[in-house]
Amino acid sequence: MDQTLSERASTVTLRVNGTDRSLTLDHRTTLLDALRDHLDLTGTKKGCDHGQCGACTVLLDGRRVNGCLLFAVACAGRSVTTVEGLTDGEVLHPVQEAFVARDALQCGYCTPGQICSAVALLDEAARGEPSHVTPPERLPGGPVPLTPDEIRERMSGNICRCGAYPNIVAAIEEAAR
Ligand code: FES
Ligand code: FES
Repeated sequence: MDQTLSERASTVTLRVNGTDRSLTLDHRTTLLDALRDHLDLTGTKKGCDHGQCGACTVLLDGRRVNGCLLFAVACAGRSVTTVEGLTDGEVLHPVQEAFVARDALQCGYCTPGQICSAVALLDEAARGEPSHVTPPERLPGGPVPLTPDEIRERMSGNICRCGAYPNIVAAIEEAAR
């Protein structure tokens, strides 16, 4: 049976970069498409649209997520931070500063996702959340030191087809310091 537009759309409010935004969306609209196509926040990129590249990474209530894998209506009432929302006015976030200082990009397409992922990574390590390569003797423990191996493992969901990985790792090490 065909559904009417009102049956397959809902009005939801998302808190995006600190501001409540109400949108009427088809239930099938992903968070990524809501940000890019309905809010003109095109900093967040669409790479694979299948949860495999990390280009669409944003923060949902402070945790990193792939925007292409979430329906926007499922994020109603939650707080979304995109790469645009990391700045404080004209002042870049320390991770953004470090990416610039370390020249951690080439074409830049993956960069917003890399930066959002790195921001979340710093918090995860500070909370002591282990990764696959965290030495067992550190468990349970305090903050996890961000060695290059830790950073590579924790950033493994963010693909860079330009191969800027060495400088990305260096930038995250610098931001962690
Ligand atoms: S666009 Fe979402 S993971 Fe690739
Ligand atoms: S800088 Fe080009 S894809 Fe990463």
